Amino acid sequence: MNLQDTIDALNTRYAVKKFDPTKKLSEAQVAFLEEVLRLTPSSFGLEPWKFIIIGDNDVRTELFKYSYHNAQVLDASHLIILCAKEHVYVRDVQAFLDRTVRIRNVDINVLSALRKTLFGVVLARNLNAWLLGIPELVFGTRIFRQWQTKQVYIALGNLISACAHQGIDAAPMEGFHQRAYKRILGNRADGYTPVVLCAVGYRASNDVFASMAKVRKEKDEVITRI
Ligand SMILES: Cc1cc2nc3c(=O)[nH]c(=O)nc-3n(C[C@H](O)[C@H](O)[C@H](O)COP(=O)(O)O)c2cc1C
Repeated sequence: MNLQDTIDALNTRYAVKKFDPTKKLSEAQVAFLEEVLRLTPSSFGLEPWKFIIIGDNDVRTELFKYSYHNAQVLDASHLIILCAKEHVYVRDVQAFLDRTVRIRNVDINVLSALRKTLFGVVLARNLNAWLLGIPELVFGTRIFRQWQTKQVYIALGNLISACAHQGIDAAPMEGFHQRAYKRILGNRADGYTPVVLCAVGYRASNDVFASMAKVRKEKDEVITRI
């Protein structure tokens, strides 16, 4: 893929308002999107997220009631709910270190600096977690929940770009009721909070937004070269 192909793909994509409900993604495409999400980078590599992919219409009919009229929730081929982990525990950090040791086949001592950062600095910053009597908690305070949420948006960007490259249409959405979604998802979202949605599939032929010019600031307004 040359440079212009990527720019063309990003120009062709748009936030779809009207999906064609008869056009479904193939199993291979859904598996592709799963891998795109899984490969998303995160700060420290802690992956504080979960992605729930819904094709089922009954569940989506229920979710649609709490989606501020975002019809994409119902009409797209699949709805992806990107969720943030509510708490990142010491055991999650340990699991991450163990995974690194196993996959990279390195000695745990190679990771000592990273280990120190994760267990030292982060725990020290969370003294209140200790005071609350849950010393196992690491990223559980409000400020760290914001951190987890930010990580989830990296996955959203990755997903939107990958869809554009593959000619899959996508609609990112924040217009939904988080708590209602969490209730409907039940134990499938235990420990996770829905943060942002992305409906994926194919645009309807009469989606008027498809032919609208892209509205973006000029390059010199958003880019500074030094
Ligand atoms: C995080 C995020 C949340 C969004 N939420 C909604 C939404 O709830 N409903 C909607 O119709 N569009 C939503 N959009 C679409 C934006 O309005 C759209 O991406 C933006 O206007 C730029 O247009 P383009 O994506 O077509 O280039 C959202 C986009 C982003 C990135």
